[in-house]
Amino acid sequence: TDTSHIRNFSIVAHIDHGKSTISDRILELTNTVEERDMEAQLLDTMDIERERGITIKSNAVRVMYTADDGETYQFNLIDTPGHVDFTYEVSRSLAACEGAVLVVDATQGVEAQTVSNANLAMNADLDIVPAINKIDLPSAHPDEVKLEIEDELAIPADDAVCVSGKTGEGIHDLLEAIVFLISPPQGDPSAPLKALILDSYFDEYRGVVATVRVFDGGIKKGDQLQMMQAGHAFLVDGVGVKRPAETLVDELSVGEVGFVVTGLKDPEAVRVGDTLTGALRPTAEPLPGYREAKPMVYTGIFPIDNKDYENLRDALEKLHVNDPSLTWSPETSVALGFGFRVGFLGLLHMEVVKERLEREFDLDLIATSPSVDYHVYKTDGTMLEVRSPQDLPDVTRIDHIEEPYLKAKVIVPPEYTGAVMQLSIEHRGIMTDMIHLSQKSVEMRFDIPLAELILDFFDQLKSRTKGYASLDYEFADYRPSELVKLDILLSGDEVDALSFIVHKDKAYGLARGLCDKLKEIIPRQLFEVPIQGAIGNKIIARSTVKARRKDVLAKCYGGDISRKRKLLEKQKEGKKRMKAIGSVEVPQEAFLAILKVE
Ligand code: GTP
Repeated sequence: TDTSHIRNFSIVAHIDHGKSTISDRILELTNTVEERDMEAQLLDTMDIERERGITIKSNAVRVMYTADDGETYQFNLIDTPGHVDFTYEVSRSLAACEGAVLVVDATQGVEAQTVSNANLAMNADLDIVPAINKIDLPSAHPDEVKLEIEDELAIPADDAVCVSGKTGEGIHDLLEAIVFLISPPQGDPSAPLKALILDSYFDEYRGVVATVRVFDGGIKKGDQLQMMQAGHAFLVDGVGVKRPAETLVDELSVGEVGFVVTGLKDPEAVRVGDTLTGALRPTAEPLPGYREAKPMVYTGIFPIDNKDYENLRDALEKLHVNDPSLTWSPETSVALGFGFRVGFLGLLHMEVVKERLEREFDLDLIATSPSVDYHVYKTDGTMLEVRSPQDLPDVTRIDHIEEPYLKAKVIVPPEYTGAVMQLSIEHRGIMTDMIHLSQKSVEMRFDIPLAELILDFFDQLKSRTKGYASLDYEFADYRPSELVKLDILLSGDEVDALSFIVHKDKAYGLARGLCDKLKEIIPRQLFEVPIQGAIGNKIIARSTVKARRKDVLAKCYGGDISRKRKLLEKQKEGKKRMKAIGSVEVPQEAFLAILKVE
């Protein structure tokens, strides 16, 4: 087994700089897919990815490239997500590679996640090929971007390849650069098997299917293998590669990336980051694996129909195979019944998981407002981790509360620094540094509570800087804050699922905003519904949903029957998405109304 013709690399970039488009062109140019089968974002296989035009999951595919030297090379290409919520997904992919193609948009230049992805690749000691994309656009300035790559990332830009994912220009040069600049994998084909599990998913028929990178040895159908950490042993049902359709092969040999059909039906048996080895002749040392992804945001997830509770648990377990960053524990709400407190890497991750649970497992769910993990120091000297407003102890028993802070980094053109500073102040941020990267970009650093960032910070940042600012952040530490619990009462009854924890200076504004928003969201009922915001026993805001007067059908005066039916169906559809809280019908958006308060 000769690895000199293998190249394993990830494509990394700031969001929307064109990774998926470049991957598409590579698949095309190497004839991996026939032209008639070509569709945009071929490697984004989930519906949500296609609809939103973003990559959420990494995807490993094998392409064969015949280079100008006449030799044929095996490329194992991993397309990765660009959004900050999914950085862990990028680092997982990098651990399976010798190289990275760092894509930078020629019209945008280096942005916040360009910096963090470049750092991840450098720390993993990978060979980096910079690719300056979108050179077909009139506003492209590739020469300036080359300078930015050298100055801001300390990556030599002589090797940078200028490409257009749209027209295909330069893609051939990029493939040649990959052959010459990225090292082939090394490893011992006759040593005991040592393979890294970088991804996996659950298949009803085949059990867990794991994507692996072989570091030593090889894998064939019928081999007896074991997971070093989890301990489960199994017989290999088959091995294969994605091209991009799953194709079975005889062997995954040293240096290669592919998938293993384990036949294991227990979703817990296969852990991403675990080392796969021979059951009879195991390797001595496991691979270092991955640092566990720490959840940043928590929400309650409840089935609309309480009968679905067990199905929801089952769905979470199966989804966990494919998304190991997911954590959950049971939660009970007076208003919503039995559900789970689920931890996410960020708000986009939360939306994606909720959507996947609903689509892939056919569940109707309600998510409650996101919360961070608060450290509540009690008067008895103990500390309580509070991830749900309901778990906050009585004020008399609280000494003080600490909340998580982030180190945030914004890269922005100089004319917008004032706007960013203002936004940061409004969100309790503290500026710590401001670095002029070049004439066109300034890096602003600040410490900011995570709870502020998860609400509307990012949208505000984009709109106040006309889309020019980019954001990156990481966890910093816990700091004391004056926080209170804001409750919402419907018809005088407190609704636990609508409570949240907020800084005391913001409580009044938020309570007012929330009461107004809920008044818009909650439909008129047969009776008047007062909405109140309260801290403890003190009412601080109120609004009212007026009683409904007319019947929906009244305006059709018995005329058009199909229109009538449509209206009734629409009403029924609406009903399904409602939850009865006491005698009030509340639509699911109400529980996330906090995200919509300006
Ligand atoms: P994420 O996966 O969400 O991080 O995005 P991505 O980096 O994969 O970007 P994607 O390939 O989805 O491209 C983002 C947008 O840029 C799409 O609208 C593409 O059509 C467009 N685009 C990509 N490459 C080029 C290019 O070379 N020229 C032009 N004009 N547009 C491009």
